[in-house]
Amino acid sequence: MLKTVKSLLQEVADFTPKSEKEIEDFRLKFLGKKGKMNEIFVAFKSIPNESKKKIGQEINTLKQNAQAKVDEYKGCFEIADATAEIDFTRPVVLDSLGSIHPISLVRNQIVDVFNRVGFTTSEGPEIEDDWHNFSALNLPKEHPARDMQDTFFIQTNPDILLRTHTSSVQVRYMNDNKPPIRTISAGRVYRNESISARAHCIFHQVEGLYIDESVSFADLKQLLLYFAKEMFGEKTKIRLRPSYFPFTEPSAEVDVSCNICNSRGCNVCKNTGYLEILGCGMVDPAVLDNCGIDSKKYTGFAFGMGIERISMLKYGVNDLRLFFENDMRFLKQFSSL
Ligand code: DAH
Repeated sequence: MLKTVKSLLQEVADFTPKSEKEIEDFRLKFLGKKGKMNEIFVAFKSIPNESKKKIGQEINTLKQNAQAKVDEYKGCFEIADATAEIDFTRPVVLDSLGSIHPISLVRNQIVDVFNRVGFTTSEGPEIEDDWHNFSALNLPKEHPARDMQDTFFIQTNPDILLRTHTSSVQVRYMNDNKPPIRTISAGRVYRNESISARAHCIFHQVEGLYIDESVSFADLKQLLLYFAKEMFGEKTKIRLRPSYFPFTEPSAEVDVSCNICNSRGCNVCKNTGYLEILGCGMVDPAVLDNCGIDSKKYTGFAFGMGIERISMLKYGVNDLRLFFENDMRFLKQFSSL
């Protein structure tokens, strides 16, 4: 018996597994219910008492060594075994990729159209003060036109508010830069309006500003025609209607020809053949002076448009709320653009 135990001890010492399965087989062979150890323990009972002590010690060593071997290698091959099963030649299955939100897409397109003709990109804060959002733009306190934009004020301080339009960036930009100025600012704006298919309390605008010597209304018109054609197609026509904004004089609203019915009249353009896209005008001299620009030397124009509105017209979306709901079925339709 001692001989058997000695040879098993040798076998245990020599054993170096190459896989998880070999370790498991080894464990079953030695330590399993029907394994060698149990066989030996059974045989141990029938050996003469005087040999028991010596053989007993060897058997204990065998058991300990076998267990130590299992403990040493158990789990070592799991990762290797798992990778061995991966077929690296299999075609790649891409995880579903995200896509750019339609509002970001259209914002990028608008900004790009103006960047191409020399407009820089600028930004301003979404939490503004009264001066930059209203007063500097010719909207002093108590001016009735303030009611055109229902404002969210920051709790206790009526001087601090969430900007109601990106026109506030004009003020900041004119304060910090000298003419010639050609800049475009896109961003989020806030108004205390009830949410409907046509309005939301958060939306996005793009503001444009051009200040130099002898800038004229004709320059404004030409730039907007270029923009409309780039955005809505080469055949697009524009129409300017007189309007009122406190920060521009004269002011206009701009319509583009309806590309759904080719201006023949449909329910989208309400049979007018045209769709309103933006407000614009020559910057009021008082605004230039408020912002530290000499209104005797410089003139300029400004314009502002809603990104949601442009997106709705461009992609035939009839409910503005869709842009905020993050419904994948809606967003996925823009993933290839
Ligand atoms: N700030 C105006 C609005 O939110 C849009 C606008 C109109 C901007 C005329 C301008 C402008 O710069 O000249 O309704």
